Amino acid sequence: MPEALLEVSGLVKHYPLTRGILFRKQIGAVRAVDGVDFHLGRGETLGIVGESGCGKSTVAKMLVNLERPTAGVIKYKGEDITRMSGRALKAVRRNIQMVFQDPYTSLNPRMTVGDIIGEPYEIHPEVAPKGDRRKRVQDLLDVVGLNPEYINRYPHQFSGGQRQRIGIARGLALRPEIIVADEPVSALDVSVQAQVINLMASLQDEFDLSYVFIAHDLSIVRHISDRVGVMYLGRIVETGRDAEIYDHPTHPYTQALLSAVPVPDPEAREHRERIILAGDVPSPANIPSGCRFRTRCWKAQERCALEVPLLAVPAVFRHTEGPAAHASACHFAEEKQVVPPEGSLDDSPPGAPDDPPSERA
Ligand SMILES: Nc1ncnc2c1ncn2[C@@H]1O[C@H](COP(=O)(O)OP(=O)(O)OP(=O)(O)O)[C@@H](O)[C@H]1O
Ligand code: SF4
Ligand SMILES: [Mg+2]
Repeated sequence: MPEALLEVSGLVKHYPLTRGILFRKQIGAVRAVDGVDFHLGRGETLGIVGESGCGKSTVAKMLVNLERPTAGVIKYKGEDITRMSGRALKAVRRNIQMVFQDPYTSLNPRMTVGDIIGEPYEIHPEVAPKGDRRKRVQDLLDVVGLNPEYINRYPHQFSGGQRQRIGIARGLALRPEIIVADEPVSALDVSVQAQVINLMASLQDEFDLSYVFIAHDLSIVRHISDRVGVMYLGRIVETGRDAEIYDHPTHPYTQALLSAVPVPDPEAREHRERIILAGDVPSPANIPSGCRFRTRCWKAQERCALEVPLLAVPAVFRHTEGPAAHASACHFAEEKQVVPPEGSLDDSPPGAPDDPPSERA
């Protein structure tokens, strides 16, 4: 396993729900993040995926210290950064930068691109002395595939994809080790999404970066992630290596998400099983007892309402070494191949559409 840069354990963020004007009384809490654990190795990409409101951005904000956790520990190179302050915290923050979702609203329209990308140097002047900054910013524009001569232009003079390149250049300005990218391509056209993801992949090699890459769609993180964590209502419900999650999912929620991803190959699309989830996501202020997915799960049984399933390798797979032996928070975890693995249909004889897709080791 590569050196752990980040280790997150028991991460919680609850927002109090209050009533009353003069005497505010807490009547409950929005459990936006409700006990999240993961680690990120050097040079790795961890994809975090889940529906709107499941707590992805709240996790991201805690990682870059824009929100303080209610509980839990975030360790950077073995040190708990949730308890740091002053100079030590500032040094850590320099190494963990964020790229935001919406390139239309995250860039100040009144600042030039040069000022936007160079802004982090105002907070960390030690990284680039004043006389060097213009050259540094031009180099960054070049690195993200933009003309360095655009340095005096304003955000509205760029397309959506170009603006996200500007956001990435700003994220790189302080030469961080970790970039937390919160839905960096969700606001972009599909054709531009791939270009920005490819850029991020090449920057990862060039700058030895580690990514936490957040998306609401499993198809977006597929080609950039080494490992994936699937989030539901404030918790990670299944996590594993890329091929384990895509080709051997064992949690019903992951299986449902996979059944909804676009499949370009028409033959694979035909073999894909569609799972339609019933009902809406419950409110994070009123999380169901036991398994939080049970109100929408087609496999739910009595035990699911009584016992919280832990995120661990399920007992049925514990003694196997196959790809299904990864962490899944389900009492009745079962492997289900929702989408045939890429390339697995190439050898299938014509006229045998009902043959089960072959397993990939
Ligand atoms: N400051 C806040 N006060 C109260 N509730 C909040 C606050 N910030 C977030 N929430 C709630 O916490 C939950 C998680 O929000 P979060 O923004 O982390 O979700 P998300 O997974 O990023 O969603 P999206 O895909 O829409 O960006 C939501 O129900 C949201 O309404
Ligand atoms: S524990 Fe029960 S409700 Fe939860 S995902 Fe598994 S089968 Fe469904
Ligand atoms: Mg979000």
